[in-house]
Amino acid sequence: MSASMPQKQERLERILRMAPVVAVVTIDDAGVAVALAQALLDGGIGAIEITLRTPAALDAIRAIAQANPLAAVGAGTVLSAADLDAAAVAGAQFAVSPGASPALFDAADASALPLLPGAATAGEAMTLAERGYRLQKFFPAEPAGGVEYLRALAGPLPHIRFCPTGGIRVDNAAAYLRLPNVLCVGGSWLTPSALVRAQDWPAITVLARAAAALRN
Ligand code: 3PG
Repeated sequence: MSASMPQKQERLERILRMAPVVAVVTIDDAGVAVALAQALLDGGIGAIEITLRTPAALDAIRAIAQANPLAAVGAGTVLSAADLDAAAVAGAQFAVSPGASPALFDAADASALPLLPGAATAGEAMTLAERGYRLQKFFPAEPAGGVEYLRALAGPLPHIRFCPTGGIRVDNAAAYLRLPNVLCVGGSWLTPSALVRAQDWPAITVLARAAAALRN
């Protein structure tokens, strides 16, 4: 029997509170995953979302889960029950989806893996809250309306906490983190593909350290 929704939400909240930023990583070479995760950890970023958009993603999650016990590795771009199952088998500790669907709701209810589902409107956020999701990804944050839009949701929906993601960088993250309904932000700016390709781990640690120093 899978964990209850409140238990899963609690586990997810602990992960989202590890640092002000969740690193969103799209990885082409699973062989660098452990070093990449270590570079983020060295900078103080422990929650790492590997998007399931490349063939290397599941191997990268598996490698980090085995070799970086201080990291909380999750799977991003989870779109289906099959994605959720594959993420759990690979050792992911959480899953992130850009939105939600009835099939994904059913799969997440049956899974032990906590899901951070995406919402971009009040209606979507209310539907998720009805299903027990008080923690949600606000996606895509900047195109959907940014800081002011999310601030406007805090009045009528004060019980929902968001992790805005999509278009967030070091220079606009702090404004999101100051909102009362934001727990953390997500972003790919900590792991630019050029630095990953060059295996420039010290540079990634510098970006992670700056992100970890942001505070809400
Ligand atoms: C994504 O799913 O790619 C995330 O939302 C990351 O968005 P970003 O690249 O704008 O940080």
